[in-house]
Amino acid sequence: MAAQAETVAVPNIEELFQPTHDERARQSMVSMLRKHAIIDLRAELKRDYEGRVEPALRERGEVPRNWREIEQAMESQASYRFYSTLRYHAQEMCYLSVQPAVERALPQMISLAKDLAVRNPSGGSLRLDPNFEIPRYLAALDVHLAPGWVTTEHTIDDVAQGAVVGFGGKVFTGQHPYRKRAGVVAESIAHWLKATRPGFAPRRLLDMATTAGKNLFPYKTAFPNAEAHGIDCGAPVLRYGHALAEHEGVAVHFSQQNAEHTDFPDSHFDLIVSSFFLHEIPVKATRNVLRECYRLLAPGGVMVHMELPDEASVSDYDNFFWNWDTINNNEPFYTSFRAQEPIALCAEAGFERDKCFKLTIPDAASFGEERYAKFLRGEIPAPAHGSGGWFVMGAQK
Ligand SMILES: C[S@@+](CC[C@H](N)C(=O)[O-])C[C@H]1O[C@@H](n2cnc3c(N)ncnc32)[C@H](O)[C@@H]1O
Repeated sequence: MAAQAETVAVPNIEELFQPTHDERARQSMVSMLRKHAIIDLRAELKRDYEGRVEPALRERGEVPRNWREIEQAMESQASYRFYSTLRYHAQEMCYLSVQPAVERALPQMISLAKDLAVRNPSGGSLRLDPNFEIPRYLAALDVHLAPGWVTTEHTIDDVAQGAVVGFGGKVFTGQHPYRKRAGVVAESIAHWLKATRPGFAPRRLLDMATTAGKNLFPYKTAFPNAEAHGIDCGAPVLRYGHALAEHEGVAVHFSQQNAEHTDFPDSHFDLIVSSFFLHEIPVKATRNVLRECYRLLAPGGVMVHMELPDEASVSDYDNFFWNWDTINNNEPFYTSFRAQEPIALCAEAGFERDKCFKLTIPDAASFGEERYAKFLRGEIPAPAHGSGGWFVMGAQK
């Protein structure tokens, strides 16, 4: 990633974040708490359902017929209530645990980001739109229970939400074995693209809903000759991402745009990607985004969205598990997005149905080359999404 980093003598905006000893201790505690909820209690919850709740229902002739009936059965169980409570509060605390250190560093962070936005020492750029209209589905609630999420501006030239979401995300994933490095989704998709499309060399690529570019930078490393763009609605995260990129020597172009309707010309990109995006917007907006991808892709270009597996691809129990976020994590479109058929969504946007795909690919960093070769030959499947694999949907134009 850091092709020119040594030659760019600017401080790293992340180094300005200096938590005290007690703040670090709190962040570690929150990471462990979240890990306990999302890994240990998740497993316990499944054991409780399969070993106790479901057999009792079966005995009464009331076996759940779908994920909603599983949810109904679990809502009153102590195991579920404990899991939910712990997961909800651990999520909230991820962001709260980093806020004080961000507040202390904010004046320096802002001044550094402003300076880099003028000088662009690594050759990237930042384009913000003072008249940008934030979609209501983003502005109306604190998505992910992150206060202010990615669009709130507390002061002029603010980068606070970039830092809060960035460091909160590090606390969030801190103890997760295969997600310690940033940008692993992009690394995995780039690895898969190269393995399945030898010679693929996009001239321009676009990461939609890039936030601060975590999953944009690895594409620039994988395809160094491509002009790389990242768009998002949140000015603070774009400013923050631009400062990170300019320090790292990654020449990427950030702009504040709604992915439903961008200002790029037709057929401008050979690769369009996104990660953790479509499930966060209404299905109507997803349809607009996919149509926009169709417009923006050159013939032969590829679109890959890393997403949650659709409802039809996983078991009723897993649907119950995944859809938890809809009501508990301020992600109200989660269930309705997952109820869509990904291939049908892409085909409706204009792509030829037989050029649309959905599959789970291995996490490139943790899978190992030998097993990856077997996966490519169809001899072994990728691990499940979220457990060493990433679900992707998309199409080739
Ligand atoms: C979970 S974050 C994405 C994370 C990021 N892609 C990554 O991999 O690190 C969701 C992002 O979608 C952005 N977003 C939501 N609606 C959008 C839209 N219509 N156009 C562009 N970005 C949007 C939000 O601002 C937010 O930054």
